[in-house]
Order: sequence, then C-alpha cells, then structure tokens
Amino acid sequence: MSERIAHAGLAARRMDAESAAALIGPGMTVGMSGFTGAGYPKAVPLALAARIGAAHELGVPFRLRVLTGASTAPELDGALARAGGIDFRLPYQSDPELRARINRGEIEYMDIHLGHVAQYAAFGFLGTIDVAVIEATAILSDGRLLPSTSVGNNKTWLDLADRVIVEVNHRQPLGLDGMHDIYYGTALPPHRKPIPLLHPGDRIGEPYLRVDPAKVVAVVETDAPDRIGHFDPPNDVSRRIAGHLVEFFRHEIRAGRLSEKLLPLQSGVGNIANAVLAGLREGGFRGLTAFTEVIQDGMLALIDEGVVEVASATSFSLSPESVDEFVRNIDRYRSRIVLRPQGIANHGELIRRLGCIAMNGMVEADLYGNVNSTHVAGTSIISGIGGSGDFARNGFLSCFLSPSTAKGGAVSAIVPMVSHVDHTEHDVGVVVTEQGLADLRGLSPKQRARVVIANCVHPEYRPMLADYFERACRDSRGKHTPHLLPEALSWHQRYLDTGSMRA
Ligand code: COA
Repeated sequence: MSERIAHAGLAARRMDAESAAALIGPGMTVGMSGFTGAGYPKAVPLALAARIGAAHELGVPFRLRVLTGASTAPELDGALARAGGIDFRLPYQSDPELRARINRGEIEYMDIHLGHVAQYAAFGFLGTIDVAVIEATAILSDGRLLPSTSVGNNKTWLDLADRVIVEVNHRQPLGLDGMHDIYYGTALPPHRKPIPLLHPGDRIGEPYLRVDPAKVVAVVETDAPDRIGHFDPPNDVSRRIAGHLVEFFRHEIRAGRLSEKLLPLQSGVGNIANAVLAGLREGGFRGLTAFTEVIQDGMLALIDEGVVEVASATSFSLSPESVDEFVRNIDRYRSRIVLRPQGIANHGELIRRLGCIAMNGMVEADLYGNVNSTHVAGTSIISGIGGSGDFARNGFLSCFLSPSTAKGGAVSAIVPMVSHVDHTEHDVGVVVTEQGLADLRGLSPKQRARVVIANCVHPEYRPMLADYFERACRDSRGKHTPHLLPEALSWHQRYLDTGSMRA
C-alpha cells in the first residue's frame, strides 16, 4: 500500500487517471478542487479532456458543468475548455483559453461571490453534484483526507457529491499536516449558530476533510507541482500605490481610528496586492494579522519578518521560488498559517466581526466610487469578482487599487460611469491609484467626485473628467448623482472604436 494511502479499502480503489475519467459522463456536474492555481487535480481533468476530445471526434456531444473553488490551471480549465468540454463554469477563473470561450459566448459562466458558493450548492441551486474530483496530500487510515495546498470548496463537494475521485499528489508536502482547519459546524438557515471565530488565528474545526469511503470510486496517484506564475517585482507605479495606502494607514492611526496593529488584512490577487504587502513591510508595521483568501509570496515574507503574526486563508498562491522556501521552512509556518474552507475564509459574519481591511485590485472606478473588478468595456470578462465583494461589503474598510491608466495610457481607470458594476458606491471606502488616494467615507456623491478627480485621475484624463463633471452638474436633470447619460459610457465606446479613450 502506498505510504500516503493508509486506508486499505481506498488503496484497493487505486487506478490510472484514464480509468477514473471514464467514470465521468456527459452532462454531469463535477465539483473540482483548486483555488488560485493551488490544490487542483492534475491528472483526471487531463484524461477527461482526452476522453471528451475522442467523443467529439465521433460526433458524440460531451460537455460538463464544472465547479471549483476559484481559478485552477491549464491542466484543468485550459484542457477542458480547449476540448470543448465545458458547458457551465463557476466561480472565479483566469485561464486564457477558458476566458476566450466565455467571451465568445460558447461557455456559460456564473460569476458569484466566493463566500456564497457553498450555500448555493447546499440549497441545490447548482443542481446535483454528480462527482467530486479532489486533490489530497494523503488519505488517513480512517479514510479522511489530508488536504493539499488549497481548501476552497472541497468540503462542500465531498459532502454533496454522489461519487468521489481522490487524487493523492505525492509532490504536496506531508508537512502541511496541521495547517488546515475544516469547520463542520455550519448549518443552513434557520438553524445557523454563530461561528465561534474571534481571531484570525483561531482553530475551530479539524485538520482533515471527512469523506464517506463508500462514495470514493477511484483513487489516482500523481506527482506534479501546482502551477503558479511569477509575480512581477514592485515597479514605480505599484510602489506609489502601496505608499499612498501605507501613508493613509499612518494617518488613520494618528487619528485614533486604527491601532498600530491595524486590523486583519485581506489582500487581493495580483501584482499590486503583492506590492502593497511589500509596502507594509517597508512601512515598519509589526504584529499584524491577515484574514484573507490567498497566501502569496508577499505574505510569506511578512510572516518571516514578524510583520504578520498569523494569516488565515483558503489557499496558497506561491511562485515556484517561494514554494521551495515554504517547503524548507514548513514547520515554522505551521503555527502561523491556517487554511480554511472558502465559505469560512470569506464569511460575511466573520469579516464584519473581525473588521477586516479589504484591499483589492480593480479594472475601473467611476467619479462616484462605483467599481468594476471584472469586465473590459462592459461586456468581456477578465476573471471574476472572486472574494472582493465578500470583503468590500463586510469589511471595516474597503480599498480598491489600480494604476490610473491601462493599455499603455490608452485607457483611464477612472471614468465617468463604470461599464459594469461589481461594487457599488456604498461598498467602496477608499480608491487608490499611483496619483493619490481618495477617502470617500462620509461624503455625498458630488463630494466624492471632487476628491476622486483631484486625487486619483491621471493628469492626461483629469481635465476631461473635470469637464464632464462640471457639465453634468449643470445639465443633469437629477442633481444628486449628476450624469450626462448619452455621454456617460462614451469613453468606453471611443476605446472600442479607436483603441483609446483619449478625446
Ligand atoms: N480597461 C481595459 N483593460 C484593463 C483595464 C481597463 N480599465 N484595467 C486593467 N485591464 C487589463 C490589463 O491591461 C490586463 O490585460 P492584459 O493581461 O491583456 O495585459 C488585465 O486587465 C489585468 O490587469 P493587470 O494590470 O495585470 O491587473 P492585476 O493583476 O492587478 O488585476 C484585476 C486587476 C482587477 C483584473 C484583479 O484584481 C481581479 O481579477 N480582481 C477581481 C477579483 C478580486 O478582486 N479578487 C480578490 C480576492 S480573490
């Protein structure tokens, strides 16, 4: 028996990925592990894609509903999308092939708050979960699973699926044992009780995922790393964004609204978020905590240096260099990192109770502080809302960050009206670009617009936006949130027509 599969009954269900993939049929709903490129199954989806491709060659339709934790990797989303095997996908995704097919209208994609998926599934809004395909680090003698580098929705898929396929990945470090905290106390309304978590480091559950061994139809052994890209080192723009935010935190401390330890940090995905973490380190902060979704390179560095004492998340998202460092020092990290199901990591009750500081990237914001995190020019999705809405709505402070321009300056990130709304003005406290920071708390729409124009807009677009606002204040029928409706989205139309928002 493999040392990583200590349950005799499950060891007997070992098979190759092709045989396991053969257990998944057309039209099924499959719940897969995986969150931001970590802990996704690495062999069965590839075998499944080959099976789907072969069926299509014979003219047999074969498409699946694919549910995950968040984004996965080319071996899962990319391969299944390329094979034409995805009919419906939920939630966050970032694979270029999948994105292209969604934007061509070939795949139905539901973009949903990451913290809501488990409840949607439990209430049956996502239909029957036919099969769960879950990566684990090991199987214990009682059949429970030692999770791998993400927890995501694994508990939900294991609980709800009719049948389960487990991929045991020998590459995932056994030292992960003890890092996870799987909470089994949730119930559906009206039977819910408070979740007993008062500090980001609290452990309220158990370190392993339960699964009924009778449901496990296949165990596949793999030996492959998570596939996560490199982060760009902070550049001048991301450093300036981080600098404005750190200066703002200092200001809030002086004003007595934050303590030196701030409040639990949530930090979004991407290079800007990584740069902000670096900025906190340089800003001399100590003893902070994080209640967030992903542990990325920047967070490990903060833990190493004592800037962050403990971090709660649902997944790792480490570059290859950081993975080696992490594995070498895994014993040190175990007491400082807690990985939870995403339904807990992103739970509104906990985010509100802890008073998180949410820091997320955005595509664009408008004059009044409405934020678009997901769409280019209103119709093409980039990735998805992820957990940004869970944290923006429920956090103590909600910050959105972006360079003031995109596409080499052809696009302004601050526009008259956002072309898609993910976060309304009511959920946005602070907008930051490399130009400066707009603190929108306590301001009316017109007051917000003045601060955004003065502080956040790139100088090339500032006169254009100031002119729009002035004319809107004069000519708009309603003067509460002034707009010139025929012109409000004209910047986006100009970008589509000419490749630039410049007038
Ligand atoms: N108009 C058109 N395209 C834009 C744009 C705009 N206003 N702003 C950004 N883009 C494009 C960029 O050019 C880039 O495209 P490319 O890959 O073709 O070059 C792409 O969007 C990503 O932008 P990038 O500058 O690399 O930003 P990022 O890595 O900081 O990510 C978001 C920014 C908004 C895409 C990212 O933060 C996100 O997906 N947010 C939603 C989810 C979230 O907040 N999760 C947090 C908790 S998990």
